[in-house]
Amino acid sequence: MERWDIDRYRRPALVPCEVSSFGSEALTIGVGDDAIDLSFEGVARDEVADVVAQLMRPSSDIWVKLNDGECPAWIRALTVQLDALSLIEETDSGIDGVASETERAVALCAEVGQRLGAVVEKRLAMYKDVLAVVQQMLADEALDRDAAAVAFPFSDQHGGKFADNFALQALHFQLAYARRNAPELLLAWQRVLDEVFGRVSWSPSTEAVQNASCESLHSLASLDPVDLQTYLLSFAHFIEIAPLRVGKRVTSVETESVREPCSGLTLAARAERLLLKALDDLGSNVYASAALASNEITPLVKGLYIEQYHVTDRFVEILGPLLSRRLKRNLRARLFQYFQEEYGHEAFELATCVALGMNENDVRASVPLPLTALYIDAYTVLAHRLPTAFFTSIMVTEGLRDQHSPVHEHIAALVENALHAGDIVAKHGETNDELNHPSLSRLFLADIPHVTAAQQRYSLEAALFMLEVNMRQLESVAFFYGDQTQLEFHGLHEGRRPLEV
Ligand SMILES: [Fe+2]
Repeated sequence: MERWDIDRYRRPALVPCEVSSFGSEALTIGVGDDAIDLSFEGVARDEVADVVAQLMRPSSDIWVKLNDGECPAWIRALTVQLDALSLIEETDSGIDGVASETERAVALCAEVGQRLGAVVEKRLAMYKDVLAVVQQMLADEALDRDAAAVAFPFSDQHGGKFADNFALQALHFQLAYARRNAPELLLAWQRVLDEVFGRVSWSPSTEAVQNASCESLHSLASLDPVDLQTYLLSFAHFIEIAPLRVGKRVTSVETESVREPCSGLTLAARAERLLLKALDDLGSNVYASAALASNEITPLVKGLYIEQYHVTDRFVEILGPLLSRRLKRNLRARLFQYFQEEYGHEAFELATCVALGMNENDVRASVPLPLTALYIDAYTVLAHRLPTAFFTSIMVTEGLRDQHSPVHEHIAALVENALHAGDIVAKHGETNDELNHPSLSRLFLADIPHVTAAQQRYSLEAALFMLEVNMRQLESVAFFYGDQTQLEFHGLHEGRRPLEV
C-alpha cells in the first residue's frame, strides 16, 4: 500500500485554532484544551503565524500552491507536521459528487424500470403474480435469516404455485446476496418495481407506495456503477423470464426420500451420481453446439472469455463467508489454500481477452450477463448458509471427477491456434487439473463426518441448481454473443447493448 500524503486531500484546512507567540522564536497553537508548540528554524515567527492563519481557510491559495509544489519546503514540512498531529481536516463533504451520482443511479433505475414496464405492459395479466411475489420477497426481512438447511427456495415440494421456477430461485439468491453484501440494491430494485407499477397503473399492494427518502437514496452512490447496472439488468431479466417457459427449471431432483443422516463422503458420492445423471439427461445445449461449430475466433469465443473474466474476477469472494468461520483446523487450512490457489486468476482471462484483440478497459467496464452475476452470488450465499451445500455445489465448477469437456477443449485449441500463444489460455485449464481441483468437493466433504437429512436435501438441491446455473450461463453467452458479427459488450450505454429475452 502506498504511504498517506498531504496532497490527497481535496479541500483541506487546518482545524480552527488560536495562535499565540511567546518571545520571538516560539509559536503555539491552541486546539481545544491542547496547546502545541510549532518548531521552525530560519523563518520569521510572524511569517509562520501568517501561514498558519491561511491554512485555516480551505479556500486559501496556499493549498493550491502546496499541491502544485510551489510552496517553500518549510510550509510543506509544517503541513505534514500538522497532518501528523491530526489537525488537518477534509472540508469537502463530497455531497456534490454524491448528489450527482445519486441522480445518475436513480435515472438508471428509472430507465431499467421503463424497459421492464414496456414488457410487463404487453402481458400484465401474466406478470401480476410474479410481480406480487417479487414485491413480497423484497419486503420480507425473514429472507435474511441464516437458518441453515431450510427448504430450498421454490423447490418442487415447497414452491407452491411457483414450484420449480428457476427465475424466482435466481431472484431469491440475488436478494439474499444483496441483503448481506449490497443492501443498497434492495432500494434500487424497489425503484425499478415502482417504475413498472407506475407505468402499468397497477400494484400488488393497495397501500400507498412510500417513496424512499432522499437521504437513503444517497446510499446508491456508494455502489460501483458497473455493479448497479449488473444488478438492475439481472433483476429485470429474471422477472421478465419468470412467467415464461424458459423461466422454469429444466433439472429436478426428488429429495423427500432422504430421511437419514450420512457422512460427508456419502453425500459427495450421491451428488456426483445426481449431477452426472443430470448432465446426461440434459444432453447437448445451445452453447455446446454453437461453440463446436466455431472454427475461428468469433464474438462467441470472445464473449466466453469476457464472461469467464467476470466470473474469475469475483471467484475468490465465494470463499469469504467460510474463511471467517471457526471450522476444524484441517478444513480451514484447505479453504485458505483454495483461496490462495484461485486468487488473481482473472489476470489469465483478461490477458486472453487482450490477446484476442479486446481493449482491457472495455472488458473491465463491460456489464456481466445476469447469469454470470448469479453464478457468483449463489455460491456466496450457499457458502454462508450451509457449508455442505457449498462443498457439494463446487464440483460443478471444479469439474466432476475426470469429466473432460470436449467443448472447452475445442475452444482452447481454437484460441491457442489463433494466438500462437496458448500459454496463457492453456495455463489456466492446466492449473485447475494440476492443483487437483476436481478433488476439492471430496476433500472438503471428507472432513465433515455428519450431515443431517435436511442438510443433505438442501445440498443436493443446491448442487443441481448450480449445475443448471452453469449450463444456463453458457447458454446465455451463446444467446448474447452468438449472433454478433462485430463484438458488442453487454450493458446499457456507450455502444453496448442489453440482453433481450
Ligand atoms: Fe479451480
